[in-house]
Formats: sequence, C-alpha cells, structure tokens
Amino acid sequence: MDTANRTHIITPSLTLSTDSKAKQMKAAGEDVVSFAAGEPDFDTPDHINAAAQAAIESGFTKYTPSSGIPELRQAVADKLKADNGIDYQPEQIVVSNGAKHACFNAIMAVVNEGDEVLIPAPYWLSYPEMVKMAGGEPFVVATTAENGYKLTPDQFRENLSPSTKMVILNTPGNPTGAVYTEKELCELCEIAAEEEIYILSDEIYEKLVYGDHKHISVAAFSQGIYDITITVNGFSKAYAMTGWRLGYTASAPKIAKAIDALQSHSTSNPTSFAQKGAMAALKGPQDSVESMRQEYDKRRKRMFELLQAIPGMKVVEPNGAFYMLPDISEFQLDSVRFADKLLEEHKVAVVPGAAFGDDNTVRLSYATSMDSIEKGVERLAKFCKGRL
Ligand SMILES: Cc1ncc(COP(=O)(O)O)c(C=O)c1O
Repeated sequence: MDTANRTHIITPSLTLSTDSKAKQMKAAGEDVVSFAAGEPDFDTPDHINAAAQAAIESGFTKYTPSSGIPELRQAVADKLKADNGIDYQPEQIVVSNGAKHACFNAIMAVVNEGDEVLIPAPYWLSYPEMVKMAGGEPFVVATTAENGYKLTPDQFRENLSPSTKMVILNTPGNPTGAVYTEKELCELCEIAAEEEIYILSDEIYEKLVYGDHKHISVAAFSQGIYDITITVNGFSKAYAMTGWRLGYTASAPKIAKAIDALQSHSTSNPTSFAQKGAMAALKGPQDSVESMRQEYDKRRKRMFELLQAIPGMKVVEPNGAFYMLPDISEFQLDSVRFADKLLEEHKVAVVPGAAFGDDNTVRLSYATSMDSIEKGVERLAKFCKGRL
C-alpha cells in the first residue's frame, strides 16, 4: 500500500534539513558555523512572553474561534490600517498557525486543479510545493541578479496564460533580500488587476528593510487591487516568535470566509495563549523590533563587505529580510555539492540555491552573531580560494 500521490510530488524542506544537519554536527561537538537558519537569533521580547504566561495562568487554554480571538483580529486590522494604510474589517482577518499556514490557506482557497501560479525565482521554497498540494501548477519565472532578482512587468506579461490564477509577490524577499519599489509593485499589480489574477502578497519580512528602502503593501494601491490581493503577514520575524506559530491573512470577505472554512476543518484555531502573546506584540512597545532591525543591518553590512571581497563570488546587496544569496557559479560546483563540501570540509552550513530554484547560488542567513559572521565567512573564503 502506497502513500497518497500528493506526497510523491512534493519535496521535503531543504532549509529545515540543512539546518538540522548543522545542529546535529554541533550537538556532536563539532565547531560548526551555521548560516542555514531562517529565524531570528533573538529571544521573544519579555512583555510578549509575560502576556502568554498570564493567559495560561488565568486558564485561557481552551478552543477559541477558528479564525482567532476577536480582539486579535481587531488588533491585526488596526495594525494593517496604521502601518500599511489598508482598511480591513476584523472579519477579513484569519489568524493561522504561522505565515506558512496563512500562505497555504490562501493558495488552497483560490487555486483549482490545473490552475497556474506564477512564482518569481529565486523563491521561498514552500510556494511551489503548496501550489502542487492544492492541485495547481507552479509556473516559475527566473529573475536576474542584474535586475536585483525582481520580476519585471514584461516578464510578468510574457509568462501569463489563460490558466494563470495567481501571482506570488514576496517583498522583502526570501532568499534574495530584494525589496520592490512602489513603482515596480504598482506596475505588476495593475497587470494582475487587468488580467484578473489573484495576488498573494507575502509581507512576513515587512519590518526588516534597510537604508532608504520602504516596505509597500500592495492592497493599499486601489480598490481593484485590494479585491484580488491576499495579504499575508505574521509574528515570526518581526517579533522573534518563530516557535509560536502565528500568522494571518487579510483578504476580501469572500476569500476570508473560504479560508476560515478550510481552517475550521483542518487545524481549528491557532494556540489560544499564543494569541494573547500576539496581542501584546501588536499593542505593546515596538522598540525591540527596531533594535533587532538595527542589529541585522550592522550584520548585513559586514557580511556584504566580506562576501564582496571573496574573489569569484558575486553578490547583490540585499535591502531587506536577513539573507544574502551570493552567486557561486565560478567555483565549478552545483549548489548542493558546494553546500555539502563546505559543511564537510570547513564546517560552515549554507542552504543550496537549488532549494529556491537557482542552482547558481547559496543562501546565507545573517540572523546570527557578528562573531559567527566573521568566522564563517573567513572559512567560506578559504574554501572558495581553494576552488578557483
Ligand atoms: C517568505 C516567507 N514566508 C513565510 C514564512 C513562514 O513564516 P512562519 O514562521 O510565520 O510560518 C517564511 C519563513 O521562513 C518565509 O521566509
């Protein structure tokens, strides 16, 4: 007896497996520097922890409405208005088990068997797998380093077909760190509106933008674009809450209802007391968000400077999130072999770009200490030198 067909068409997450391999080596006493993790290395701020602890102590440990507690849905709507300039009613918000679950819900809610979903590459590795699980076809469009790894309006138009149902935009982006400008996004979204294509706008890294760059929420552009956009965001990256599993979608009422129906029969509500922590995150002081951002920015500058100094390595300056995606094509190894050898020979963990649809690159996360950045990139430089 075999497992279901849908389990054969998906590939397990390479980011999680690389990270766990590095963790196993570390646990065995090896001096590993890991750039593999996609999570903040900071602790969740105390006031958020305290709110969840108080919720447990007061017995707030039972089921909640499947879409989340009303006050959290209201707090999310308030945040989307204040930070992003988008008007949503609480009924349009569904709180889910992480932004990953929110993306999955969004795709499941609108993609039919055979529908195409246009995904600019390099992409966050779960998008194509989610589309396949929904019965759709991921349609991957490669972007270029010259264009800062961003989809252009021409590329978008050229790759549309009558089956295109959705486009996924992720800004700031994982794994590229690319941040689209308002103009770039507006042009893409106008095409989507004209062609009646849903937009999944994954904004999980919204708080991590650097320099003069700004995060833009596309649902704020116009009523037409608002109607076709499912905005995804969450708590993992901005508030260092990866293990809490809390994210959300904001969408037109019809889509929100469909998402709620799916969620009510699959996972029900996100964890009750975690939702109280999320309330504290949104309503409490925001200074820790800014201090973490500033620390990432320092690391970003240092890692960029060090990577640029490696002969043969090409790297586009990332303007958001906490990743760098250097091009390794000069070193005569595909990305999986590059990452394997680097880990075996120099004890540095990176994620092969093949996982993100670009075999010429590897991804390094700078959500790690400055010391690790110095030490790990020095080892990487030695490895690269030996391969030229
Ligand atoms: C682009 C992107 N979207 C969504 C997620 C999922 O975030 P969460 O931990 O809230 O599920 C991640 C996590 O790495 C991500 O990089």
